[in-house]
Amino acid sequence: MPSEDFFPATAMPDSDWWSALWPDPEGALRALGIEPQMTVVDLCCGDGHFTAPLARLVGGRVYGVDLDPAMLDKARAAVGRAGVAVRQWIRADAMDLAGLIPEKADFVLIANTFHGVPDQTGLSSGVAAVLKPGGAFAIVNWHPLPREKTVVLGAPRGPKTEMRMAPEAVRAVVEPAGFEWQRLVELPPYHYGAVFHRIESD
Ligand SMILES: C[S@@+](CC[C@H](N)C(=O)[O-])C[C@H]1O[C@@H](n2cnc3c(N)ncnc32)[C@H](O)[C@@H]1O
Repeated sequence: MPSEDFFPATAMPDSDWWSALWPDPEGALRALGIEPQMTVVDLCCGDGHFTAPLARLVGGRVYGVDLDPAMLDKARAAVGRAGVAVRQWIRADAMDLAGLIPEKADFVLIANTFHGVPDQTGLSSGVAAVLKPGGAFAIVNWHPLPREKTVVLGAPRGPKTEMRMAPEAVRAVVEPAGFEWQRLVELPPYHYGAVFHRIESD
């Protein structure tokens, strides 16, 4: 698989400080509006830090997508340790999402990855294609704080300052793909979720 298919600056963080930063991933998922019984795509799921609590929350109606097979192995193990299951693991480029999910989803989550996507409106168009009309798209990003101010376990963390996006910048690239802004969710200490609804067009 050509390495250029990976989005820049989106390597999975080490689990020590990631777990310290996100001690309650299920709480974050609920705050974003994910509810039991929803069908959810965890796009760029990484090692499953969010995928396992997500699978528990929605009763297994989860598609976990990542380009890196090693990440999918870790995510599969995390879901197994949690005693839950997902509907399907999909190893693929997120840019190809439109053709990958065998049913329409209620919710697509992309966490800690969107900042590195070169064609953000193109990715959002693929997300729109797999969502039910009115379905939700949530983007979890680092706030555009200087990197030296986002300290976790004694060290600055997260993407370079210049890669971080303000919520308004996210809105500007997502809405042209067929979404309308719904709300901003604060995910302290350093993150926010930008939540959109797919415009009802079919
Ligand atoms: C920073 S990690 C975030 C993982 C998880 N969402 C979280 O917040 O814990 C980004 C993930 O995106 C994946 N990724 C990068 N480029 C991708 C692409 N083009 N298609 C699918 N996954 C990709 C990486 O393999 C990595 O697992």
